[in-house]
Amino acid sequence: MTKTVKDYIRTIVDFPHEGILFRDVTTLFADPRGFRMAIDQLLTPYTGLRIDRVAGLEARGFILGGAVAHQLSTGFVPIRKKGKLPGAVISQAYQLEYGEAVVEVHDDALQPGEKVLLVDDLLATGGTAEAGIKLIEALGAEVIGCAFVVDLPELGGRKKLEAMGMEVHALCAFEGL
Ligand code: PRP
Ligand code: MG
Repeated sequence: MTKTVKDYIRTIVDFPHEGILFRDVTTLFADPRGFRMAIDQLLTPYTGLRIDRVAGLEARGFILGGAVAHQLSTGFVPIRKKGKLPGAVISQAYQLEYGEAVVEVHDDALQPGEKVLLVDDLLATGGTAEAGIKLIEALGAEVIGCAFVVDLPELGGRKKLEAMGMEVHALCAFEGL
């Protein structure tokens, strides 16, 4: 039987803490067929649409977003964890399971009116993607879609992003945390 993207994702039990099933995309990234399938499928809904830039969320969103940008012949914009970008940045805080984190983008990385595709490996609570969307919008650009390999629907990220008016595209979903 033909393998799907989901079949290439490995589950690690009890990482990073006991009781968590970690959906490990490194096995997908490492497989030549799996990786190409994932990049092709991430792009499927956007055929024919104008996309000026791909934005990727650190860290695994860089691997996917870079390949997606290459495929589209667009530029790539990294949304990084606090303190990593060398130029002037704007920042956005978001909630983690314990405490808060901050992501940043260069303040000249996008121009007003540009159409941006946001890419990450996994959608859980949606906090990371929401922060990325806020940064993109703060620069006057428009998020035309949010593309993920994995959705964990029980954590509510898709609902959160859809409530913001976002189009969410995920290649597969895992039930159970
Ligand atoms: C993971 C994952 C997403 C985010 C999803 O990244 O890669 O970026 O969590 O969670 P959320 O929807 O609840 O915000 P993580 O923060 O572990 O960092 P990494 O990608 O740098 O490993
Ligand atoms: Mg991440």
